[in-house]
Amino acid sequence: METTTTARRRCSYSSISSLLMATICVTLMIYPSHAQLNATFYATTCPNVSTIVRNVVQQALQTDARIGASLIRLHFHDCFVNGCDGSILLDNSGSIQSEKDAGPNTNSTRGFNVVDNIKTAVENSCPAVVSCADILALAAEASVSLSGGPSWNVLLGRRDSLSANQGGANTSIPSPFEGLSNITSKFSVVGLNITDLVALSGAHTFGRAQCRLFSNRLYNFGGTNNPDPTLNTSYSISLQQICPQNGSGFSVANLDPTTPDGFDNNYFSNLQNNQGLLQSDQELFSTTGAATVSIVNSFASSQAAFFQSFAQSMINMGNISPLTGSSGQIRSDCKKVNGS
Ligand code: HEM
Repeated sequence: METTTTARRRCSYSSISSLLMATICVTLMIYPSHAQLNATFYATTCPNVSTIVRNVVQQALQTDARIGASLIRLHFHDCFVNGCDGSILLDNSGSIQSEKDAGPNTNSTRGFNVVDNIKTAVENSCPAVVSCADILALAAEASVSLSGGPSWNVLLGRRDSLSANQGGANTSIPSPFEGLSNITSKFSVVGLNITDLVALSGAHTFGRAQCRLFSNRLYNFGGTNNPDPTLNTSYSISLQQICPQNGSGFSVANLDPTTPDGFDNNYFSNLQNNQGLLQSDQELFSTTGAATVSIVNSFASSQAAFFQSFAQSMINMGNISPLTGSSGQIRSDCKKVNGS
């Protein structure tokens, strides 16, 4: 299928006279063509790209058990802002206001140095062909599978943006403090449904969160002078040890207290036990009447069902508005637009 730009160009040809052709042109302009990602995109230009990425992630995991979690989160925060286009990786420069300085990312997202190491390794084998956006998608899959989770065929062919959208990062990435309905809307805006929401939230089966992002639940929840009633009492006490009332807020707790670095379905049984760390996690199970509850229950009772849905939802997320064809560029340094 041709791209919107090509369609627009063709539509200007004077030979177009029939009503039918005009209708096709208008339709193509209103509905841009869908992503043309595929699993074999680098089969001839960089056949070992998945292995190269995986090896660097594996290496990084030796010294940082958290890095897989941090890398998949980068892909999520990339895809939710202008699509999966590597925009989160751009540093501040003349015309770029970095997404790294947006509220959800600042003092929070990590792993950029590992992305740079992956890029260097990939460039050494196949210069100037693999995008930074695709590196994030591949690193996410490697992180999950190396941690005991599912594997999937990553769809590839994304290109890198020429710009960042800091304002978009502030508004489009869900916050742990907003309610389930707002978060559901933010997923829906990018074409993801509630099964995607529940499955992808299962990524909180590994990694950490800072006290400042959940300590409102520990002492005086909503002005009650008590912890959040949907927080298990002994879990709440153990979290209070990590997050003292007048602490800095920058200490971290495991998102999954049972198996902190393993990718499994314990996240969902934690929710059933009122052991969701973030308010946004626990709401998936504790919101009366929500459609998410039965999905949590099904993933808690079947790791296979969770893994299958998770892999599919990662593909769905990875398909959000990629740049393809001749849009964007293949950055040679993920932090900078080429030539800047
Ligand atoms: C559903 C809405 C979501 C909300 C409100 C949310 C919120 C958060 C917050 C507040 C943190 C802790 C950040 C920090 O302490 O610096 C976090 C960490 C994390 N998030 Fe999410 N998240 C959501 C969805 C997702 C999705 C879709 C994924 C991936 C598919 C994901 C993967 C992760 C991972 C792996 C971590 C740990 C990162 C690390 O240890 O460096 N999250 N999330």
